[in-house]
Amino acid sequence: MSDNNSSGNNRRDFLKGVAKIAAGVAIGPSIATAGQSQRAPSSAADTMIDFVAPKLDSVRFGLIGTGARGLTHLRLLLSLQGAEVKAVCDTDDISLANAKEAVAKSGLQEPDYYTGHDYAYRELLERDDIDAVVISTPWRWHEPMSVDAMQAEKHALVEVPLATTIDDMWKMVEVSEKTRMNCMMLENVCYGRDEMMVFNMVRQGLFGDLTHGEGAYIHDLRMQMKQIARGTGSWRTYYHTKMRGNIYPTHGLGPIAQFMDINRGDRFDYMTSLSSPALGRSEYASREFPAEHERNQLKYIKGDMNSTLIKTAKGRSILVQYDTTTARPYSRLNLIQGTNGAFGGFPSRVALEMLPDGIRQDYEAELERTVADWEAAGREGKKPSARTYHSWDRDMSRWYKRYDHPFWKNMAEIAKQAGGHGGMDFMMHWRNVHCLRNGVPLDQNVYDGAAWSSLFPLSHESVVNRSKSVDIPDFTRGAWKQARPLEISL
Ligand SMILES: NC(=O)c1ccc[n+]([C@@H]2O[C@H](COP(=O)([O-])OP(=O)(O)OC[C@H]3O[C@@H](n4cnc5c(N)ncnc54)[C@H](O)[C@@H]3O)[C@@H](O)[C@H]2O)c1
Repeated sequence: MSDNNSSGNNRRDFLKGVAKIAAGVAIGPSIATAGQSQRAPSSAADTMIDFVAPKLDSVRFGLIGTGARGLTHLRLLLSLQGAEVKAVCDTDDISLANAKEAVAKSGLQEPDYYTGHDYAYRELLERDDIDAVVISTPWRWHEPMSVDAMQAEKHALVEVPLATTIDDMWKMVEVSEKTRMNCMMLENVCYGRDEMMVFNMVRQGLFGDLTHGEGAYIHDLRMQMKQIARGTGSWRTYYHTKMRGNIYPTHGLGPIAQFMDINRGDRFDYMTSLSSPALGRSEYASREFPAEHERNQLKYIKGDMNSTLIKTAKGRSILVQYDTTTARPYSRLNLIQGTNGAFGGFPSRVALEMLPDGIRQDYEAELERTVADWEAAGREGKKPSARTYHSWDRDMSRWYKRYDHPFWKNMAEIAKQAGGHGGMDFMMHWRNVHCLRNGVPLDQNVYDGAAWSSLFPLSHESVVNRSKSVDIPDFTRGAWKQARPLEISL
């Protein structure tokens, strides 16, 4: 069991204190102001890179927010060995009823429920039988809920993005360092099968020295505009009227940052951002809603496609795109390249110049087969030639066979059955619970969440200033230089 809980009295006294601070939380989306990206922290504390929390027998969870996303977390945690759900909080009756139904289906003991007002979650945080809190609420709540959770001596596992302003990110960094509690942004895409396989391939040096990556969140979500009274679109739509850059950068960027050892030997240095015209949402609104409808009164200013370019301290480049408005297929790009070749996603494909053993023999055998077929067919057309990096290898089975991450090798079926974006959500929770029970650092720390999310305000700042170059803060305050590369292993 956790040995990191202090007495209930201390916690209650403390919570009274934070009530005053949180009372000032802004209602609408915050917008970056010039200069805030350079804000320095008031004090340096011990780094949270590779921080190991005291081991837990089982991880006792509280969940705040059980809407579209939180319900997936709840279902997965209910099914996971070594995890217990002690309490659930949501202010919405339907979300809470959905949570109760999921618990009833699991047949497990009923958790306690908290609801009734916006700060009911603080009653959940007063409990001393919770080790970690999963926060799946609208973005403006991420910072106050995470800070309150850490100050109540709970690990904060918070949805993407970590926060929406650089000030809030610094605050989360400082509170995580001071309280020695994890503040992990739940970037589930880092646990996808392809992403973990590529991580493995990068670590084995297959791509040579990394030079460039591309990530994206391209996902037509215009239909969310029809969620008016509740649901994701009831709050996310307004960010398209307030921000002009990338408001959801981390799904595409997180895996690339892990491949490149960002905050662990390299770091994001500066970025520049550019947006297309904002046309799709107003066009959709005029087609799908009556003229007098509120959705037709809003002014959508966020360009349909945003493209941001990041330069790292080691000189690497990263493209990050965001488009949830255009009628086009889903993509996260997921491209990484180095001096020996590249992997690309959507669809998955590989091209390498120097081939590793196994793959080279595979290609030779493939050539023999195709030449034999060509001969049997009367040598019609051009003689098949050896596969090279000039064309993509789209047959992923040979790559999975050799380079699947050990977690996926051993748990692919369980992960797919448990579900959650093809199993990546299960893998993430399984991994977090494993780390917290076994004294292993979480794979993503507060600096990672902050650096990846910093594009939210900074891309806006660049777009409104004719794509000017904007510095990305070093949230690690220099610790990235000494940090060892990330390992995702038992
Ligand atoms: N990682 C992913 O794949 C993924 C996917 C979808 C959403 N998300 C993230 O999950 C978060 C939630 O998004 P969603 O789509 O579930 O939104 P949602 O609107 O469906 O759910 C949010 C829930 O939070 C509740 N809530 C709001 N204020 C609250 C408060 N003060 N106290 C308690 N509960 C409160 C709402 O009632 C609602 O049930 C967002 O940060 C979003 O970016 C991540």
